[in-house]
Amino acid sequence: MCAEVAEELVGQTVSVCGWVGKRRSLGQVVFVTVRDRSGLVQIVADEGRVSPETARAAASVRSEFVVAVRGRVLARASENVNPDMTTGKIEIEAEEFVILSEADVPPFQVAETGVKEDLRGRYRYIDLRRPELAGNIITRHKITAAARSFLNKEGFLDIETPYLTKSTPEGARDYLVPSRVHKGSFYALPQSPQQLKQLLMISGFDRYYQIARCFRDEDLRADRQPEFTQIDMELSFVDMEDVISLNDRFMAHLAKEILGREVAAPFPRLTYKEAMERFGSDKPDIRFGMELVDLSGEDIVKNSGFAVFTGALEAGGSVRAIAAPGCAELPRKQVDALIEVARTYRAKGLVWIALLPDGSVKSSIGKFFDESAVRALAEKAGAKTGDLALVAADRNEVVFDALGNLRLHLAEKLNLADKSDFAFLWVTDFPLFEWNEEDGRFYAKHHPFTAPLDEDLPLFDTNPAGMRAQAYDMVLNGYELGGGSIRIHRGDVQEKMFKTLGFSFDEARAQFGYFLEAFRYGAPPHGGLAFGLDRICMLFTGASAIRDVIAFPKVKDASCPLTSAPGGVSAKQLEELGYSNFTKR
Ligand code: AMO
Repeated sequence: MCAEVAEELVGQTVSVCGWVGKRRSLGQVVFVTVRDRSGLVQIVADEGRVSPETARAAASVRSEFVVAVRGRVLARASENVNPDMTTGKIEIEAEEFVILSEADVPPFQVAETGVKEDLRGRYRYIDLRRPELAGNIITRHKITAAARSFLNKEGFLDIETPYLTKSTPEGARDYLVPSRVHKGSFYALPQSPQQLKQLLMISGFDRYYQIARCFRDEDLRADRQPEFTQIDMELSFVDMEDVISLNDRFMAHLAKEILGREVAAPFPRLTYKEAMERFGSDKPDIRFGMELVDLSGEDIVKNSGFAVFTGALEAGGSVRAIAAPGCAELPRKQVDALIEVARTYRAKGLVWIALLPDGSVKSSIGKFFDESAVRALAEKAGAKTGDLALVAADRNEVVFDALGNLRLHLAEKLNLADKSDFAFLWVTDFPLFEWNEEDGRFYAKHHPFTAPLDEDLPLFDTNPAGMRAQAYDMVLNGYELGGGSIRIHRGDVQEKMFKTLGFSFDEARAQFGYFLEAFRYGAPPHGGLAFGLDRICMLFTGASAIRDVIAFPKVKDASCPLTSAPGGVSAKQLEELGYSNFTKR
């Protein structure tokens, strides 16, 4: 490989193959850099010392020609050493230089910066020659290899499950595939192998894993693609502690193998409630403080007669705040911009209190309260002299969302998170149900097969909204890396679950009959988890979006810029599927 040609090989003859980066001619000497996935090496061809064919070939190449070169490794004179190149201390003196393939002028240079994303996507195979992107794909390979090796050693079996399957309830829209044989019927591409891996537990394969592609027709974001990959696992005869401690070790193993880092496991744990109350998020970035503070109980809030505060409390909501360090003197415009951020998360506004360095207080509620009361409120929120307290009053859900996101926004602006830190944690005790106002019914927060905490079982009859699930998410630096749960394996519990979700056992059977039936023939207690492989790769490589760790990703509108998928199909194909009257819109 190009980058492996090192000083130890000086004097020896080597061959390299790759793509031409740059060619420079200095009189009768031609310098050519050759690149493969490992990196670059410099070739030198001196007209006076090589055959005429070799000299001609070396002199005629342009960037992205594919070449094969054989020659002797020379140490460069000290003044010619290039410290920016791994192979900067040597060069290869060409003895043979063969053009294997010519190349048109590429739409952009591999080394070029600032090339538009859509052009890169259209020519992804050229973009993938960039060392940075190629490095991400190589790291991804190392991560899957390390994951397989760890799980194999732990006694897991790698078992594939079908892609042409039935709809599974993960909560997103399905991608559907029409059946030719059964006209009018559809396969669904799996949103995850959830039910199939549970069936594998019932089959007796007590430890399963799969690096599984999943398909979800949902809006694309930096950390979300319509097709993505999970490291998916399921285990029998385990409880939540078993799954969590295995995965503590799993992530510590990956961090060690891939990043060469010792991360302290077991990872910290927060209950969902604590995560929301302290960070306003169920996937908190704990690399920095700026935690939320509940001000609802403060006299000045409760008994203020100030409608923004009392209104929120009377409606069952709360008044909470964060303190932005060193932000007391932010110009008004920037404070307004922070309020705008909160508004995008449905907050009606924000109260702000600036504890100015000269000891004075400036605040948006200055005219309603006396200064000492306002100062006390800001201090209660954790603000010190020089800080800006930002207070939200609303329904809890809105307060958490607005302050949680404002906290992230400020941390980014103020550069509060140590980029080199890897702060893993678990979030546990998620609510079992989510109430949907619009439909007037409960939905399963995870999925309908997630077991409640044993101690919460009596609440099925009295307070389902208060029930907690044996569900857990692993979080890294503010991203949900993975999630899972202990599953229900008792028929009576499953029945109550369906009842609370508003459908009868018979209705459930109509939808998941094959699945429920399996539980009648000996189901072991089981549970599992799935990591987002793309997200692990993104965070481990420091990429800013998962598309940078996927060889051929989709873009915003879920299309593939390289192949232009999705596209039309022939009338014949449609006819075979029974859609002859279908027209593309
Ligand atoms: P869940 O839906 O939480 O759980 O998915 C598990 C993990 O998959 C990743 N992920 C995604 N990554 C990229 N693009 C997406 N569109 C996307 N959606 C999810 C996340 C997430 O944490 N069957 C259950 C797991 C289980 O209970 O065992 C499941 O799929 O990192």
